[in-house]
Amino acid sequence: MRRIKLEDAVAGQRVARALYYPNGAAMLASGAALTPAAIQRLAQAGYRDLYVFDEGPETDEGRDLVIEAARAPMGRKLAAFFKSVRDTIGRAAGIEATDDAAAAGEKLGRPEVRKAVKALRFVEAMAGPELDAFFDGIALEKDAPMVTGMPRTEASHHVDHAMNVAARSVMVARRLGWTPRECRELCVGALLHDVGYHVLPEEALKAAPGQQLHPAAGYHILRSDTGLSLLCAHCAYQHHERFDGRGFPRRLVGMPALSPRDSVGPGSIHRYASVIAVADVFDLLTCGFPDGWAMRDDEAIGLMRKETGKALHPDALRAFLALTPPYPVGLEIEVLDGEWAGCTGVVSGVTATGMERPVIRVLRSGGAPLPKAVEMDLAKSETGFRPRGAGER
Ligand SMILES: [Fe+2]
Ligand SMILES: [Fe+2]
Repeated sequence: MRRIKLEDAVAGQRVARALYYPNGAAMLASGAALTPAAIQRLAQAGYRDLYVFDEGPETDEGRDLVIEAARAPMGRKLAAFFKSVRDTIGRAAGIEATDDAAAAGEKLGRPEVRKAVKALRFVEAMAGPELDAFFDGIALEKDAPMVTGMPRTEASHHVDHAMNVAARSVMVARRLGWTPRECRELCVGALLHDVGYHVLPEEALKAAPGQQLHPAAGYHILRSDTGLSLLCAHCAYQHHERFDGRGFPRRLVGMPALSPRDSVGPGSIHRYASVIAVADVFDLLTCGFPDGWAMRDDEAIGLMRKETGKALHPDALRAFLALTPPYPVGLEIEVLDGEWAGCTGVVSGVTATGMERPVIRVLRSGGAPLPKAVEMDLAKSETGFRPRGAGER
């Protein structure tokens, strides 16, 4: 299986991960063969990349962040929910692009807005079999996800972002030893961490000052009348704070440790938000939205390492990196030296102990398929490799 750009897709290839319409309905099931019409539909929907099976044996070595059977229903539910947040709370608040934080906060506190918040019944909307399945479908540490996030479109970005951030946050929290109840609370908080975006006018979101209103807007929505825990509201409020105290909106500082005992203090970032911040940054760096430019996972990890103790909490980042392969399954690679120098292939496996040196499958030489694919465990060899096209930008 490999992840390819849509422009490189050809009819006859079989998709290795399902692709969806903006409303969450399935467009192409896993295993479906691409046709020219299907490729066109994907382009129209705004897909930029997809997973396909390689020629040869259709083995699927990748464990997804969230199992697909749970991800798709949760995605549909969230998409509908975010839309009703916009249609009801957003409309009732009537925030304008010129409003500052105080004005937006005042509007979100008005009785008619509180009524709209209450009417949405957040607890019932978020709870239910979809959330249960989603929570249970998040990869466990022993089968940590070796595939990176799923392809997305502009229309699905908010929903995919929410689910990825939630799933990665829960994985980190489990690794940190938090209780299932805490992990579930964190999951809900992370799914809703950017809910503030949905009540802000599109005009406001085009520039930084407007975008920076979304944590407080989210907090105002979630802090009461929803029935959710106050900590969920603080996930929204604090996820853009920085460990070093230079974040927004309140310039809180990170707690020294992320254990439950240590993580409450005046002026400090709650541990839930410190974990969400790490997952949030990774997803935003690698997803390619809204501006179309995505880092590879290894590039994002390199950048995030430099932010340890600055933007990002060292404990949260350490736990995150232990679970996140820089070279995920499906990544196209190029062999740099040895017997297969110049050949290309894909990452076909990652082991938790040797994430920097994945298992690769060499498939082509000079663009032509090799008579037989060659599997190589780079943890057991000195062979050099790099992601395909890595030297080109
Ligand atoms: Fe955010
Ligand atoms: Fe976010």
